[in-house]
Amino acid sequence: MKPAPFRLERYFARFEFAAPYLLCCSDCETLSVADLLNFEPNALDDFFSLRLGYTESLGSFELRNQIASLYERAAPEDIIVHAGAEEAIFNFMNVVLDAGDQMIVHSPHYQSLGEVARSIGATVIEWKGDPEHAWELDLNFLENAVTDKTKVVVVNFPHNPTGFLPTPSFMAELSRLSDDRGFFVFSDEVYRGLEYDASLRLPAFSDLNERGVSLGVMSKTYGLAGLRIGWISTRNKELFRELAAFKDYTTICNSAPGEFLATLALKHRAPIVERNLSIIEKNLNLLSPFFDRHKERFKWNQPKAGPMAFPRYSGGSVGLFCKQLLENTGVLLLPGSVYGNQSDFFRIGFGRSNMPDCLSRLERFIELQDNN
Ligand SMILES: Cc1ncc(COP(=O)(O)O)c(C=O)c1O
Repeated sequence: MKPAPFRLERYFARFEFAAPYLLCCSDCETLSVADLLNFEPNALDDFFSLRLGYTESLGSFELRNQIASLYERAAPEDIIVHAGAEEAIFNFMNVVLDAGDQMIVHSPHYQSLGEVARSIGATVIEWKGDPEHAWELDLNFLENAVTDKTKVVVVNFPHNPTGFLPTPSFMAELSRLSDDRGFFVFSDEVYRGLEYDASLRLPAFSDLNERGVSLGVMSKTYGLAGLRIGWISTRNKELFRELAAFKDYTTICNSAPGEFLATLALKHRAPIVERNLSIIEKNLNLLSPFFDRHKERFKWNQPKAGPMAFPRYSGGSVGLFCKQLLENTGVLLLPGSVYGNQSDFFRIGFGRSNMPDCLSRLERFIELQDNN
């Protein structure tokens, strides 16, 4: 079966490069090539002399070494680099799942986390966060939903689009269930590192458990989506071998400039992440009072991590609101319908430095509507 159209990506395909004020992005403020090269005195010369032949299929040792240092228990041999997180999701699902298997996915979710499995013929069960309780997940639901056919449970913490983060004891319990019932945990951790309070950072699932697979990427926490460098960290050797072999049919290897610049960025990740967190903090300090001022229209659910949130809209149709906002002001929000059955909500992004400008345009639009 072919995968269904990716609603969110089709929406962005129409508007991302046409709308002047993006207020729904999931990535942080980006950097230029020069910004990255300026981190080291020899980087420009090294970049100029980079050879553009095929690269090592798993990713260069230097890059995998940098990636491994993000984890407590990973070695470079546990890391396989992919073209963004998206290729890693596609390959993992194809390697692990067959038609008739069952997969359980944390919802609402980035569509490919469920859709690739569905296209393979797996039964996909949604494990829904509860919007009335800060998008909490109920472990009892999971325990009852798992059957002999459950091969994979997918989680995404920090969560796109709600910014939900569970507790370490939740993670420990999930890890115990994965041991007891024998399923993989595919843990999408692409927003890891963007916790507003660093003490809330969860352990990476690949550190917790050999059935745990951690997904990471340069796009979000580091703001470097254009590098198209993502990865899987897993200590499961058999899975690793199968992922490596499957990649021969997708990209074979990664872009050499992407790998070079990702390695450089990860070496200097501390100031990059610090800058992104400070943009987020400043923006959140505007968003909370904004939502306070407009309580009758929106229900704000303060996230715990990441560059986005998923407020509820109580002023009528979210789709119409987003459409009129875009047409009148050029500000782009993301209607919750792109996440499937979430039509009361919309995604707002605040990882970029022009957010204050976008937000005041949104506020002027609302005030105009209120006065009419
Ligand atoms: C939760 C989640 N996983 C994976 C991806 C894919 O990341 P990339 O576009 O860098 O491949 C995204 C992108 O929005 C995401 O939000």
